Amino acid sequence: MAKIAVLGHGVVGSGVVEVIESNKESIKRRAGQEIEVKRILDLRDFSDLSYSHKFTKNFDDILNDDEITVVVEVMGGINPAFDFAKASLQKGKSVVTSNKELVAGCGAELLKIAKENNVNFFFEASVGGGIPIIRPMHQCLAANEINEIAGILNGTTNFILTKMIKEQMDFDTALKLAQDLGYAERNPSADVDGHDACRKICILASLAFGRHVHPDNVQTEGITKITLEDVDYAENWGGVIKLIARAKRGNNGKIECMVSPAFVPKSSQLANIDDVFNGVLIRGNATGDVVFYGKGAGKLPTASAVVADVIDVAKAVSTSKSLTWDECEENIVESYKNTSSAFYVRVETNEPTEAKVAISREFGDVIYLSRKEQPKKELAFVTKSILEKDMLHKLTALVEDDILILTHIRLVDY
Ligand code: HSE
Repeated sequence: MAKIAVLGHGVVGSGVVEVIESNKESIKRRAGQEIEVKRILDLRDFSDLSYSHKFTKNFDDILNDDEITVVVEVMGGINPAFDFAKASLQKGKSVVTSNKELVAGCGAELLKIAKENNVNFFFEASVGGGIPIIRPMHQCLAANEINEIAGILNGTTNFILTKMIKEQMDFDTALKLAQDLGYAERNPSADVDGHDACRKICILASLAFGRHVHPDNVQTEGITKITLEDVDYAENWGGVIKLIARAKRGNNGKIECMVSPAFVPKSSQLANIDDVFNGVLIRGNATGDVVFYGKGAGKLPTASAVVADVIDVAKAVSTSKSLTWDECEENIVESYKNTSSAFYVRVETNEPTEAKVAISREFGDVIYLSRKEQPKKELAFVTKSILEKDMLHKLTALVEDDILILTHIRLVDY
């Protein structure tokens, strides 16, 4: 029998206990042995549960229990999750986590400690909730050079954008609904400002490219400034607005990595991923595009991924020494200003005819978009692909011509 401890009895932690209990027999068959939750760490009291006797408020009860061989960390955040994970690995216990902040921030260090102690550090649930993505990338796509990854990695923002696109709901109303339905993180900024998606793309990029991609180095833009006007212009262009997290091999060993809203053509496989669903497109040099789709959050989908990791550890086939990436001191992420993209730009001007002359002067040929009830003062257009730093100079030049820049959004083509 494998005895495990669960750190945190929130949504995911209670789901882990539930899945292990309700699927006991099939889990035993697959793991080759029974899996039992021996202790649960939480500072709150849960005296009315059938397994209340398993709770402790003291991590040392778990750390010093030699029967416990796997520690499941589902508390979230860096502190004390990092210290608990590190101490567990150093004690020779494998660690399974759903904590994307922990993996994105400290993954290289924890993977190294796991390797040194001949145990595993697994984190399937940290990206895409119940969607299998870490293991398929690491194992099933192992024969490929992965050149690019692009995904809708945050369910809350995808839900909000879907409501804006399909029901013309404004941003604030859609966010409130997402919060009422329990999709948003405790602090909605993690979702709507793109940080959650950033952590997830950093984990996938680190795994794909073998070196730690730190969230702090990644240009991260959220969806708070997206308006229904932008949604209408995207429709006129032939696409939808999605929060896209992306990473690709750049030049000179650099990695281009960014999170931002983007115009996605309706023909793209990512365009039809709606509501709280997530989708990840992996571009392999042998497979071409492979897309993973499913529920990216929620109690049982996430718990399912956590328990699958526990089963893998329990099978004790071996430690997965190759599921790793290296820490690197220097910043390997290319400045977003040195990357290229086509742009949608929306401006306001008192002199539309003259503004169009200035726009042609800066951008050459552009495609003008239209929407219902478009004010005479408003212009929206799409540029050709352009280096971001040039784009910023050109927008500044338009401002000097008394043109107010309302927004600019990148175009992607996956
Ligand atoms: N708040 C996250 C999301 C939860 O909306 O995708 C899963 O990481």
